[in-house]
Amino acid sequence: MPQNAREEYERSGWLAVPDRLAPEALEKVRDSIAAISRTDRPEVVQEAGSDTVRALHGCHGYDDVCAQLVRHPLLLDLAEELVGDRVYVYQFKVNIKSPREGQQWPWHQDFAFWAHEDGMPAADAVNIAINLDEVHEHNGPLTVLTGSHRLGLIEAPEAAQAVTGRDWHEHVSARLTHTVPDARVRELAADFPPVRMTGPAGAITAFHPSIVHSSTDNLSDDRRAVLLITYNSVRNAPVRPSRPDFLVGRDTTPVERLAGALA
Ligand code: SIN
Ligand code: MN
Repeated sequence: MPQNAREEYERSGWLAVPDRLAPEALEKVRDSIAAISRTDRPEVVQEAGSDTVRALHGCHGYDDVCAQLVRHPLLLDLAEELVGDRVYVYQFKVNIKSPREGQQWPWHQDFAFWAHEDGMPAADAVNIAINLDEVHEHNGPLTVLTGSHRLGLIEAPEAAQAVTGRDWHEHVSARLTHTVPDARVRELAADFPPVRMTGPAGAITAFHPSIVHSSTDNLSDDRRAVLLITYNSVRNAPVRPSRPDFLVGRDTTPVERLAGALA
């Protein structure tokens, strides 16, 4: 981890670390993801009106490889450093953008969902993203507005109240419930420069719960699968979780490092 990781993360709201998931570990995770994608369970979500898998949720709760991954010392060192506390797994997902079919994630802030839907008290969590494929300009990379996390929540509370409590499938669809309007993003982009999180398979990036981000449709012939683990401070559990436990982890026990995880 870079020496000034926390400082850089606090300034920019995101951080690309030099460490990578080892190729053997990456292979195991990719195999697990492929197997889970073939199963029929509520945690596996399809693109609207299609059989194409869009996302997998809570895999660490039912897959041994994913359970080991969340305990990987590399990821826990990073999460604890950036959150500044012991952490538990709040959310685990894999967003799979299939070639030509994977759809967008409109501009939004994750903390809008966690605060309004689950009652997470503060943005004392971090997303750790691991590329399972190479992510390039054309397969729908995540784009962040650098520094925008410092604005806090942008959505007006009354607007949030009007849409809170809907079917959770909307929260993982290409038509999200809590968004930042495109016109607002155009204004923000002048002060908070957009950066595309491209990188090779195995690359690891952290980003803040309040950073404004989006990703476009996958218009390329290459799959773009990104695995996202949200680690939350053990002192910041949501006060009114009602969504399924594969979206909002209920077990707030601090995650312990597993030496040799996925070795
Ligand atoms: C994406 O997978 O591109 C979106 C991830 C997110 O919004 O957290
Ligand atoms: Mn998001």
